Amino acid sequence: MLITKQSLQVGEIDPRVGLTPNELRNLSWDLVKKGVNQADRACEVTRRAYMSGHGMVFMYGGYGQGKSLVLKIAVATALNEGKRAAYANLAGVLDDIRIAYDERENKMTELVRRMEWWASLDVLAIDELDKVGQTEWARERIFQLLDARYQRAVRQEALTVIAANYQSTDELSGYLKSRIEDNRFVANGYVIHLKGTDGRKSMPKNWKY
Ligand SMILES: Nc1ncnc2c1ncn2[C@@H]1O[C@H](COP(=O)(O)OP(=O)(O)OP(=O)(O)O)[C@@H](O)[C@H]1O
Ligand SMILES: [Mg+2]
Repeated sequence: MLITKQSLQVGEIDPRVGLTPNELRNLSWDLVKKGVNQADRACEVTRRAYMSGHGMVFMYGGYGQGKSLVLKIAVATALNEGKRAAYANLAGVLDDIRIAYDERENKMTELVRRMEWWASLDVLAIDELDKVGQTEWARERIFQLLDARYQRAVRQEALTVIAANYQSTDELSGYLKSRIEDNRFVANGYVIHLKGTDGRKSMPKNWKY
């Protein structure tokens, strides 16, 4: 089904898309302000990746750098252009998959179906990569999903944008660091370290994003 602003508002849309109707209606690339921090650069790079339709973009840095904002804008843009897309914290993705595992009778089928939903999106924005439990089960699922997204990026089929509160890519697990730092992404500027000021300290009172 094509996702439209209206269908999201009337609740027909899969809640896994992760945006409020207001965000879906209003988020656009030009909302990212220049001169606050480095979010404008992250926005430019992500927009370029979005236009190409594929890749793996990784943003890392401190708090309030506009990472989540850029991720949500990419997903809102994709949904408004009729693509299949979702924004989620990694913990939320895992919860979705885990529920299938815990509750359904046909466990494996449901697990595979849910993994496939996330893996098959045209645009997937994964926020808070760093804030997930490190059980073996979680680690395996994260690897499975991100490797699937990586492979689709290399095949030029889908875009994944990831954000984390890291100070260095060395904080990534080895397998993920290797994939994110693939030269096909790095050469395009897709690995972005954000070192600016915390936007939360300067957003105007009526800023809703
Ligand atoms: N350059 C910017 N232009 C417009 N809004 C910004 C900019 N930078 C930050 N903001 C705003 O500041 C707040 C914090 O930004 P955001 O949540 O995107 O940061 P973050 O990098 O995801 O931080 P955290 O790691 O703490 O989650 C949000 O309200 C966001 O809309
Ligand atoms: Mg954030």
